Amino acid sequence: MSPPPTSTISPTIYYWGTPVVLITTENEDGTFDIAPMSSAWWLGNRCMLGLGADSQSTINLIRTKQCVINMADDTMVGAVNALAMTTGSKAVTTATEDMGYLYFKRSQGYQYVKDKFARAGLTPAASNVVRPPRIAECPAQMEAELKGVYDMMGDMDIRGFIALEVMVLQTHVHESIRWVGYPNRIDPDK
Ligand SMILES: Cc1cc2nc3c(=O)[nH]c(=O)nc-3n(C[C@H](O)[C@H](O)[C@H](O)COP(=O)(O)O)c2cc1C
Repeated sequence: MSPPPTSTISPTIYYWGTPVVLITTENEDGTFDIAPMSSAWWLGNRCMLGLGADSQSTINLIRTKQCVINMADDTMVGAVNALAMTTGSKAVTTATEDMGYLYFKRSQGYQYVKDKFARAGLTPAASNVVRPPRIAECPAQMEAELKGVYDMMGDMDIRGFIALEVMVLQTHVHESIRWVGYPNRIDPDK
C-alpha cells in the first residue's frame, strides 16, 4: 500500500503537542512566580525555554539565573487553566500601545496575579539547590540554572521573543512514575 498523500499548508501555530511545563522563579520581592509554557525542548541535561521577553518569569530568570521546571500531568488541567491569562508582571495593568507584547496581553484580558500558587491551588515544596520552590503536585520537578540567553526573530527586527538555555541541577520525581528496577529511569508510559 502506498503512503497517504500530503497537502501543503501554512499552520498558524506550530505547537505539536509539547507537554506543558510550569516554570517557577523568584520575584524581586522574594515571592515566587509560576508560568505555564509549552515551548520547551531538551538536549542532554539542558532545556531550551522559548519565552516572551517581558514575561515576569523571563525577567526573574535572567536576574536570578535560577528556576524549577515542573512537568504538569493531565490531572493538573484545572491548575494550568487557572494560570492561563495571568501574569506576575504588574506592568500589564498599565501597559500602553508602545509596550508591545505587554499591551497585547492587557488587551487580551491578562490579569496581574501576585500569588500564583494560591490562584492555581498548588503546593510549594522547598528546593535543595535553587531558591524558587518546586511544585509538589508535579510528577517531575527539575531544579535548574540559566546558562544562555538567545534572541529569536532578530533577522526580522522583531524583539521580545527569546530562548533561555537552562541546565538541570537536580531532578525530583514522584515514585509513581519511576521505572521499577531501574534507579535512574522514568517509565515513559507513566
Ligand atoms: C498552556 C500554556 C502554554 C503556554 N506556553 C507558552 C510558551 O511556550 N512561551 C511563552 O512565552 N508563553 C507561554 N504561555 C503564556 C505564558 O504563560 C504567559 O506569557 C504568562 O503571562 C507568563 O507569566 P509571567 O508573566 O508571570 O511569567 C503559555 C500559557 C499557557 C496557558
